[in-house]
Amino acid sequence: MDTVSADEAVADAFVFFGATGDLAYKKIFPALHAMVRRGELNIPVIGMARAGWTLEKLRQRARESIEHNGDFDPDAFARLSAQLKYVDGDYANPATYANLKKALGGSVHPIHYLAIPPSMFESVVKGLAGSGAAAAARVIVEKPFGRDLKSAQMLDRTLHEVFDESSIFRIDHYLGKEAVQNLLYFRFGNTFLEPIWNRQYVKDVQITMAEHFGVEGRGGFYEEVGAIRDVVQNHLLQVIALLAMDAPVGHDAESMRAEKLRLFRAMRPLNPAEVVRGQFRGYRDERGVAPNSTVETFAALHLHIDTWRWADVPFYIRAGKNLPITATEVVVNLKRPPLPVFEAVPVVPGNYYRFRLSPDVVIGAGALVKQVGEQMRGEHVELIARHESRTEQSPYERLIGNAIHGDTTLFTSDDCVEAAWRVVDPVLDSAEPVIQYEPGTWGPSSASGIMQDGEIWHDPRPERSPPC
Ligand code: BG6
Repeated sequence: MDTVSADEAVADAFVFFGATGDLAYKKIFPALHAMVRRGELNIPVIGMARAGWTLEKLRQRARESIEHNGDFDPDAFARLSAQLKYVDGDYANPATYANLKKALGGSVHPIHYLAIPPSMFESVVKGLAGSGAAAAARVIVEKPFGRDLKSAQMLDRTLHEVFDESSIFRIDHYLGKEAVQNLLYFRFGNTFLEPIWNRQYVKDVQITMAEHFGVEGRGGFYEEVGAIRDVVQNHLLQVIALLAMDAPVGHDAESMRAEKLRLFRAMRPLNPAEVVRGQFRGYRDERGVAPNSTVETFAALHLHIDTWRWADVPFYIRAGKNLPITATEVVVNLKRPPLPVFEAVPVVPGNYYRFRLSPDVVIGAGALVKQVGEQMRGEHVELIARHESRTEQSPYERLIGNAIHGDTTLFTSDDCVEAAWRVVDPVLDSAEPVIQYEPGTWGPSSASGIMQDGEIWHDPRPERSPPC
């Protein structure tokens, strides 16, 4: 195995497989364009695909992608176009990799982005190794990483035959979001949370990832995954890990990984009785979807974390398509004071911390204050910290940049990914029928049934703009 260690070198060529695909169109081209614009990408960019395209056609596609999904800048685009090369060929044919090797020219530390289905990883990794294009190289792979624990372990074995772990960058774009990083910063950059961040003070934790849209023409892809594989196993468990882990003992990526792994390993495998799967009405009419599909477009579940910090604190997770709003929000509900001093009937809601992760970046603290007047009556207020930056990097821009520089901090390791699969494995491909729900609602009403002690779901609402 001849691979480059994480901190040895900055990559000197960026190769992406799946150059004519959806991910390249929606995320990769806009990210590359933004990096060129900031002056952070001046290495050859080689698109790979089996589409019979020419370089001119790929440039045209890149332009459309950036005009549609990015902030088109003619100068930056001209520079990106000049850096762009294209290699067309079958991923199973060694000649494709020989052509890639030629296109790489004098590059000694290329980075290969596999923006392709995992079923093709093996051919590509073997092709890269056979041609010498994997030597001293790094590889970026997309989620979902496998379909379950077993297939993830097989993929890891395939990758490890050619790349060592420090050269593998598994993308979970949620980890590149400003708001998700802020969650970590807010927890460990302040002292006031730590004393209450445990089972003594926290009543329950909820995370909702709501999407107002459906599967948007991706029915074929979605049939293979469903909500649990698509966003729970990765994005949402990663957020929970950052929310619940202990402070890392060092500043390096390895210390962070060690604490996250400890937390993932403390997550109890899901109990099917504590999971509700839903499917929006109309999903089965989507292109690429089986007429009797039982794939879930909604999931609600109760997760247990068996540590001294979190024992008996319920973590509720909910994710779905075609819900009333697009928003991802975490709410950490705190317990009530031990005895009422003022009203007999408590003011609702009580104390909580609210982290809006998407589309806005907001941290809110729910508190009670006295209503103006003679009586000692309370009312609820929320103290808000809002982040409005329009100039921040997109997650893909940040993550591709970090991978090019060999920084693994925001990527998921083999053991964390496998531990996350271990959590969801018992409820994948459930034989239970999915429950239909109407588009634009909060999913099946039975999602409330998994909550204990009469708790109710917190539904994210449109964020109010700050007063001018
Ligand atoms: C992707 C899922 O990983 O994340 C999509 O495959 C989902 O189904 C998307 O819509 C949400 O990401 P974001 O950043 O747009 O909230």
